[in-house]
Amino acid sequence: MCGIVGYVGQQAALPVVVEALRRMEYRGYDSAGIAILDGAGEVRVEKRAGKLANLEEALAADGGEAGFVGTTGIGHTRWATHGRPNDRNAHPHVSGDVAIVHNGIIENFAPLRAELESAGVELVSDTDSEVAAHLLTRAMESGGTAGDFVASCRAVLARLEGAFTLVFSHAKHPDVLVAARRSTPLVLGVGQGEMFLGSDVAAFIEHTRDAVELGQDNVVVMRADGYEVTNFDGEPAEGRPFRIDWDLEAAEKGGYDYFMLKEIAEQPQAVADTLLGKFQDGRIVLDEQRISDQELRDIDKVFIIACGSAYHSGLVAKYAIEHWTRLPCEVEIASEFRYRDPVLDRSTLVVAISQSGETADTLEAVRHAKSQKARVLAVCNTNGSQIPREADAVLYTHAGPEIGVASTKAYLAQITANYLVGLALAQARGTKFPDEVAAEFRQLERMPESIQQVVDSLEPVREIARELADSKSVLFLGRHVGYPTALEGALKLKELAYMHAEGFPAGELKHGPIALIEDDLPVFVVMPPVEGRGVLHSKLVSNIQEIKARGARTIVIAEESDEVVKPLSDYFIPIPPSTTLLQPLLATIPYQAFAAEVAAARGYDVDKPRNLAKSVTVE
Ligand code: F6R
Repeated sequence: MCGIVGYVGQQAALPVVVEALRRMEYRGYDSAGIAILDGAGEVRVEKRAGKLANLEEALAADGGEAGFVGTTGIGHTRWATHGRPNDRNAHPHVSGDVAIVHNGIIENFAPLRAELESAGVELVSDTDSEVAAHLLTRAMESGGTAGDFVASCRAVLARLEGAFTLVFSHAKHPDVLVAARRSTPLVLGVGQGEMFLGSDVAAFIEHTRDAVELGQDNVVVMRADGYEVTNFDGEPAEGRPFRIDWDLEAAEKGGYDYFMLKEIAEQPQAVADTLLGKFQDGRIVLDEQRISDQELRDIDKVFIIACGSAYHSGLVAKYAIEHWTRLPCEVEIASEFRYRDPVLDRSTLVVAISQSGETADTLEAVRHAKSQKARVLAVCNTNGSQIPREADAVLYTHAGPEIGVASTKAYLAQITANYLVGLALAQARGTKFPDEVAAEFRQLERMPESIQQVVDSLEPVREIARELADSKSVLFLGRHVGYPTALEGALKLKELAYMHAEGFPAGELKHGPIALIEDDLPVFVVMPPVEGRGVLHSKLVSNIQEIKARGARTIVIAEESDEVVKPLSDYFIPIPPSTTLLQPLLATIPYQAFAAEVAAARGYDVDKPRNLAKSVTVE
């Protein structure tokens, strides 16, 4: 979390930096700030708690572009970790001529702070970040690096522990920015006579498509006419140059009121793109495989680790993986995984699912798995991010940039990729014949059309949402893969509409939660497909009867032809037919639309729910 941006070039830096911050705001919106170097030895800083709009107001009041002249600047949007979200703790942090922005956590900030304080330095914020600014001032003033800006930055970096992206600026060196990354993201944009920095490419995509991904422990020294990448010791290192293949339009709302609505509508494409090229010469292929086919065959246990929605996608995967591969598969919340000493060895496959590829809980779980010799397969939406870099194999989801903080299209793409993981394992282990794998893949290929049908018929769901927007609480029930779908429905409602919501396996209701049912309580239920209707369907029908008998209002998602359940439904939301395993790709969508509409009806910011950030790079 936290978005960082930087610019050195010919243009006025202020509008470039502010626009870049607008595109980074999804990474955190507890505060925003900028520093502009005027080229004559001064640095001008403005920062404000709250959303970017507050900063923009302050900038306008202080003269706007005329008040912040200069062609070099840095900026920051914050998701608070150390220190309350107020003006004082907002970035940039300043020390004399130095201004810095930071994403991540400096773990040894306490001894560094004590050292600075005992040397008489006055720290004005409660953050871990500010120490970096003062350490740089001191390195510039004395010792072997005095007067040498780049060497001083390296000297500071050598003292820091933890995960960080840092951008250093110095008023007396206005033609250069120095940036470094360890475990948190940083991308360089290469323009004509101008250079950009961003936590991701959206920061500069309107200026250039040429980007360089910086590696672990890389430092970049950038000027308007070029850049140099080294390691922390100053030895040459290489970033990975790449061309950005999505356009600005993809990062903008495209006529929708919220990014989330646009992203819900993009789900047929996200699923289709995730499947594209994944079945070649009769085989499922991964994007990257640094693990042999034999090692894949030798796997005897699968763990799935992920957080939040990604975890729910993993719960769906468990049903597919166990069914198709006959391998035991456990799904774990990533933040719990390494603290309970899981049984791992070289024949364990750990599947790490992460949209951002930088979620600290998941990354640390991956590192723990690797330290125990387990093989790691990453399912990720962000090319080149840390989790796929550290994995032995990678399957990328192709949902494109997801700006709405609540996951929608990335979630459906994760479920899709997880099915591919299951099929790849089944193929490697021979638990499915090649023609069975091909048939499953063809089923998946038909899903975007059905997803489109659901996306095109969400208006009745929105009407229900407006009607129920004042509810105190909503329950979500399901069986089999309908259970993770229930959990996802509840999470969406909690995070967007700040409404109490819980998801349960429908069969568990009678063991306690049924006590919650009272007159008019809205209860969502996903019915398994009509095809192959069996025990699962009839048990759910009984569960619906039980809750209706206690006065609940039932909102049932089921296939149009499910005549059995219609009379039991106060509201009936039809979805197209599918197999049971693939149904979450359809049944989840009404839940996304419901939560977004309740949030909008309650007057909340659908794209930026309170207290949340898009990628969570702290544990
Ligand atoms: C919920 C949501 C979060 C993320 C979770 C993991 O809508 O988006 O629960 O799914 O924070 O993030 P990634 O997938 O980036 O690891």
